[in-house]
Amino acid sequence: MQRHFIEFTTPDTAVMMTDTLTTPAKNEVIINVHHSGVNRADLLQRLGLYPPPTDASPIPGLEVAGEVVAIGEAVTYCSIGDRVCALAHGGGYASAAIVREDHCLLLPDTLSSEQGAALPEALLTVWYNVFERGLLARNETALIHGGSSGIGSLGIQMVRAMGATALSTAGSQERCAAVTDLGAEFVANHSEGNLLEQFKEAGYAEQINVILDIAGGDIMQANLELAAPDGRIVCIGVMRGMQSEINLATLFMKRLTLTGSTLRRLDTASRAACFQAIRAHIWPEVLAGNILPVIDSSFPLADVLAAHEYMRSGRHFGKLLLECQVS
Ligand SMILES: NC(=O)c1ccc[n+]([C@@H]2O[C@H](COP(=O)([O-])OP(=O)(O)OC[C@H]3O[C@@H](n4cnc5c(N)ncnc54)[C@H](OP(=O)(O)O)[C@@H]3O)[C@@H](O)[C@H]2O)c1
Repeated sequence: MQRHFIEFTTPDTAVMMTDTLTTPAKNEVIINVHHSGVNRADLLQRLGLYPPPTDASPIPGLEVAGEVVAIGEAVTYCSIGDRVCALAHGGGYASAAIVREDHCLLLPDTLSSEQGAALPEALLTVWYNVFERGLLARNETALIHGGSSGIGSLGIQMVRAMGATALSTAGSQERCAAVTDLGAEFVANHSEGNLLEQFKEAGYAEQINVILDIAGGDIMQANLELAAPDGRIVCIGVMRGMQSEINLATLFMKRLTLTGSTLRRLDTASRAACFQAIRAHIWPEVLAGNILPVIDSSFPLADVLAAHEYMRSGRHFGKLLLECQVS
């Protein structure tokens, strides 16, 4: 099967290439990709700052949605003709992609392929970090930094759907209001005033059980101070910097856990286990319409550099997508 795909021949040059996809391995499927999600990691990969793991496709793109057009001999979850979304181990910026069947979710008629492509990376990242590493329980409180991000906008809804309270942060009054509309009980504006004081004034000092941090830098000490005793802080991004100065006494006085992860480096079996948990706990909420991706806009695959520039500008709210069928 012929496929079109994007190759960044220099950090500023995207070239549309073609090749032929081989038969899927026994547990893989080939998807005719209608939409692919754009993620921050893709921008870093393009700049050479986040090389793909050695076992991954060098083609960028971490999540796709479309129609299954071929299946490996041992595949049982998907059939040819099914509409699915999937986590890709690279290879998403393409008109067709090979993915593992246990990294797919069957799409209902109520979800478009745009919506489908906006889901896998955020679902997996939030599930693994907030619920598995952070062990968020019903009736606890979670602070999901970056409520306007692709990750955060879905994360707030997942936290609420699982019976916990969601708090968040965003970078302007308008963005804070939009994040509140997604279900966050309180949203602090990180570009105005002191973040810690805003949460304290709102009554959340030492009330937060789990913090999903995409920012790092100077926010980390505020995280430690905001966390409840036995709180769990999970760092997944460094939008404010890779270096943080923290007071270790805060960590041991409150018995806090500070951890982190990156989905790209998570092994295949752990990702498949996350998909199983998501099918059981989160997917029913998606099917019921209680969790829906927030989509900012879609760009033709050939305009991938414009999509990246828009993401880099930080003006978007929610997910950016690529339309991957090339005529
Ligand atoms: N470790 C993992 O497995 C993993 C997986 C996926 C994503 N991530 C990370 O999660 C983050 C979000 O990813 P995404 O793809 O959803 O990106 P995105 O949609 O572009 O979101 C970026 C977010 O960063 C916020 N932000 C920008 N500058 C900030 C600052 N100085 N202080 C605080 N917040 C700031 C933006 O919100 P405002 O403009 O409203 O402030 C926005 O919510 C990225 O850091 C990404 O690398 C990690």
